[in-house]
Amino acid sequence: MRIVITGGCGFLGRRLALLLLARRDIDALTLFDNAPSALPLPDDRRVRLVTGDIADRDTVRALIAPGTDAVYHLAAIVSGQAEADPDLGYRVNLDGTRAVLDACRALGTGPRIVFASSLAVYGGALPPSVGEDTALNPQSSYGTQKAIGELLVNDYTRKGFVDGIALRLPTVVVRPGLPNRAASTFASSMIREPLAGKEAVCPVSPETVMALASPRRVVAALAHALDLPGDALGHNRTLQLPGFSVSVGEMAEALRRAGGAEAVARLKWQPDMTIQAIVGSWPRALNAPRAEALGFARDSGIDEAVRFFIDDDLALQKTLAG
Ligand SMILES: NC(=O)c1ccc[n+]([C@@H]2O[C@H](COP(=O)([O-])OP(=O)(O)OC[C@H]3O[C@@H](n4cnc5c(N)ncnc54)[C@H](O)[C@@H]3O)[C@@H](O)[C@H]2O)c1
Repeated sequence: MRIVITGGCGFLGRRLALLLLARRDIDALTLFDNAPSALPLPDDRRVRLVTGDIADRDTVRALIAPGTDAVYHLAAIVSGQAEADPDLGYRVNLDGTRAVLDACRALGTGPRIVFASSLAVYGGALPPSVGEDTALNPQSSYGTQKAIGELLVNDYTRKGFVDGIALRLPTVVVRPGLPNRAASTFASSMIREPLAGKEAVCPVSPETVMALASPRRVVAALAHALDLPGDALGHNRTLQLPGFSVSVGEMAEALRRAGGAEAVARLKWQPDMTIQAIVGSWPRALNAPRAEALGFARDSGIDEAVRFFIDDDLALQKTLAG
């Protein structure tokens, strides 16, 4: 199987590459990005790195060459950046997605495409638990771009141009590395930095509830989507992935259980009403019966997500922290 991952040097793309390379049936894996990877890329003769802009149609057409069986489309500008720079957001998150879909269509083989969508497609007055039955009502440019991407994946699939799946990812916690420009970045920082010996700021109240999934679960879900028979999804190619609900106060308690009182002491509570309002508008609980029936698993809770971070990333994180 020949696979392309756009955003392949990003957080999820690189991890997905490592997981897919464990499979014997992967013959070639092309990682596409416009930035170098902050972490070493897999040392494997099947891996090829291509640098370029996802919104450049000629580049993307050359990238998704004849013989490509599947494309993971993960390249994107994150929420805060898409809001601050709408031209960049629409170019990367919308024009880039169209370029990928059209390059897949040009193959004439209907390849599998897995598109990373987000909880940002939901918004407004939300029910206690959201899922695929909840109306698309994004309240940000990023969410709007992801919602359009989902609809395009559905329509290109209906037309037989691609065999698409859009996965609505929960907020991924604990994310290693440095803070990014996503409004949710604190949710990882508040666990990651104190465990690595650094201070972190929590800008929302302990009562704030979020719907999360660990990197391990999300990357496993992306890999699982490669082999799912399209027919199993019926007329709706978007799946809400399962996640767990946790309050920020409970997250601080999980930090205490993992790192002790000295770790919790490194967490400073500094309310930021702008971030509180954004996070307060997000889903508090996820309803994902279809994905669960199709074999997508859920983390047991925040303690498991913290343990995965300690097992998978903490040693490297400590070197980053200096
Ligand atoms: N991590 C999360 O919590 C989360 C939640 C929901 C959805 N998602 C989605 O999952 C995908 C991957 O997320 P991530 O956390 O790995 O993000 P990331 O920012 O680490 O990776 C995205 C990659 O896209 C690349 N990119 C940006 N602009 C590009 C361009 N013009 N051309 C080529 N490459 C470009 C970036 O360099 C980066 O490596 C994204 O589509 C994101 O929107 C992530």
